[in-house]
Amino acid sequence: MEREKALQLVKKQLTEHRYQHTLGVMETAISLAGRFGADVKKAEIAAIFHDYAKFRPKNEMKEIIINQGFPEDLLTFNSELWHAPVGAYLVEKEAGITDHEILDAIRYHTSGRPNMTLLEKVIYLADYIEPGRHFPGVEEVREMARENLDLALIKAVQNTIFFLMKKNQTVYPETFFTYNDLITKLED
Ligand SMILES: [Fe+2]
Ligand SMILES: [Fe+2]
Repeated sequence: MEREKALQLVKKQLTEHRYQHTLGVMETAISLAGRFGADVKKAEIAAIFHDYAKFRPKNEMKEIIINQGFPEDLLTFNSELWHAPVGAYLVEKEAGITDHEILDAIRYHTSGRPNMTLLEKVIYLADYIEPGRHFPGVEEVREMARENLDLALIKAVQNTIFFLMKKNQTVYPETFFTYNDLITKLED
């Protein structure tokens, strides 16, 4: 799908603020993909669609998670997690994207997962460091991402876990599994 067509489809789903975030993720994902050897075109499309379901009503997301057999433990954790797997589903159904690498990059952009593909790492990290993001620690991750994708990703996942814990929020187990997987491979 061409960039303009994809952006047009996504714009209708998002607020202006979230659309600007999406443009930032797109530019960052293209640049990371080029730097670390991921498929640039797939990175562009995955980035454009990554937050497609962000503003769907919670009830609709809940129904999709149950009806599509997505992990139901998602429903007992922060609803911020839901738009990722629901987005992968809706992007296929409504926008006709069938490429599984792209759909998985959308599906895992919030939780991560063990054995992430290069494309999944690029989208997770681009979402975290795009230029519109301003929070403590983001600049450090941006700098790491210039050199080493895995180290930057580990830092981003750590920060996410710390952030949730500081706010007394639950941490979805898949995020811990992602962290453990990345750290274990680093030490190999
Ligand atoms: Fe998201
Ligand atoms: Fe995002």
